Amino acid sequence: MKLLLEHAHVEGIRYYDTYRKHGGYRSVEKAFKMTPEEIVEEVKKSGLRGRGGAGFPTGMKWSFLAKPEGVPRHLVCNADESEPGTFKDRYLMEFIPHLLIEGLIVSSFALGSNMTYIYIRGEYAWIVDILEQAIAEAKNNGWLGKNILNSGFDCEIYVQRGGGAYICGEETALIESLEGKRGNPRIKPPFPAIQGVWMRPTVVNNVETLAAVVPIINNGGEAYASIGVGKSTGTKLLSVCGNVKKPGIYEIDMTQSVEEFIFSDEYCGGIPNGKRLKACIPGGSSVPILPANLLLKTAKGETRTMSYESLSDGGFASGSMMGSGGFIVFDEDQCVVRHTMTLARFYNHESCGQCSPCREGTGWMYKILKNIEYGKGKMSDIDLLWDIQRKIEGNTICPLGDAAAWPVAAAIRHFRDEFEWHITNADEAQNRNYGLAHYADPIHVPAGA
Ligand SMILES: Cc1cc2nc3c(=O)[nH]c(=O)nc-3n(C[C@H](O)[C@H](O)[C@H](O)COP(=O)(O)O)c2cc1C
Ligand code: SF4
Repeated sequence: MKLLLEHAHVEGIRYYDTYRKHGGYRSVEKAFKMTPEEIVEEVKKSGLRGRGGAGFPTGMKWSFLAKPEGVPRHLVCNADESEPGTFKDRYLMEFIPHLLIEGLIVSSFALGSNMTYIYIRGEYAWIVDILEQAIAEAKNNGWLGKNILNSGFDCEIYVQRGGGAYICGEETALIESLEGKRGNPRIKPPFPAIQGVWMRPTVVNNVETLAAVVPIINNGGEAYASIGVGKSTGTKLLSVCGNVKKPGIYEIDMTQSVEEFIFSDEYCGGIPNGKRLKACIPGGSSVPILPANLLLKTAKGETRTMSYESLSDGGFASGSMMGSGGFIVFDEDQCVVRHTMTLARFYNHESCGQCSPCREGTGWMYKILKNIEYGKGKMSDIDLLWDIQRKIEGNTICPLGDAAAWPVAAAIRHFRDEFEWHITNADEAQNRNYGLAHYADPIHVPAGA
């Protein structure tokens, strides 16, 4: 079942004429015959959950938007997409930009946003041009600007390029950056729905979330809700990377088993070179890694499926999360300690530094992991790592702290023996050659640290 990628392979779908020929902008025509409240109701009925990571119900988020008399409101599209392993929004924007623009126009109308922004990660420079061309085409054809389709509704969409910081994907850091300031997360409350961009009521939604509004309005919320399973309604894009035969972008209806998704030819095609599956991070680098036994079956022995509920079944003790849909697969040759060290380095580098548990803890975890990986670890380091991640989780201004803590916790929980092996086999650990021995390391670790 394809809703977002239905026309992805049509030649020229990036351009307005082809997109329109394939039914593009119908949802805008339909939306202008509805009231904004009816559109919000339809999105509520659809059960759509935010595709940026947290999975918060979109219709409910929209209904929280404050509407003070005479104060402008804003819709901001989060196209920062910096979570390692996640590249689905890039695909949508690069190949079907009009789907996002269409979703943005309908959503802006529903929320009363006359000035709507796309905040895009700095590294997606070429996509800025693609989006700006699509916006210009939409405007030339009367879908943007003043009094769109004689509806009385005015809307402009502006693209703002970020400077390349992962933290600017967090919605309040994004808002700060959009306002031209350093991207430091704000303390909540107040939430953006009350005080967002320039302290005006603001909704921040992910690219995929806003694109999904198009099929919801075209076919109705109930039709969308009838796809999928439980509270995992509609379709979800997954970006797959790592040790699979067919990495790429997949649109699924979340009913597939994890086994089918990884091994069937319709999706990832299995593990290359006859290797066995070791583990997987199902939802982007921030969510817990799961070893193969817990990935394919839950702790209760039930088949795990690709839905929000099933992936998180068992909590963090034996489950994980759908997250942003960045599906990273590891074969039997991959080293969990090395992988965890790489992630710790990333989160340390990306911490904005406002809260000490995150600023100090991420660097400390990275140093310890680096020592263990390079054969200089002590057995007590494993418990120390555990202790540090516990002290970060839940004790910071924004969830980057949790995102740094969870991968470390899950790696120790499920692969403690690998950490112990690195410590008891220090010489062998030191001499392993990944062909990456001298890769650039932006963080200086003093000798003997
Ligand atoms: C460190 C950090 C990075 C984030 N990066 C992104 C991102 O790149 N894209 C995104 O949509 N949401 C990201 N989020 C989640 C956003 O804060 C926000 O929840 C999301 O944009 C809401 O959109 P949704 O409801 O449509 O999912 C990030 C959160 C954190 C804590
Ligand atoms: S948790 Fe980390 S990234 Fe988030 S505000 Fe605190 S220091 Fe900054």
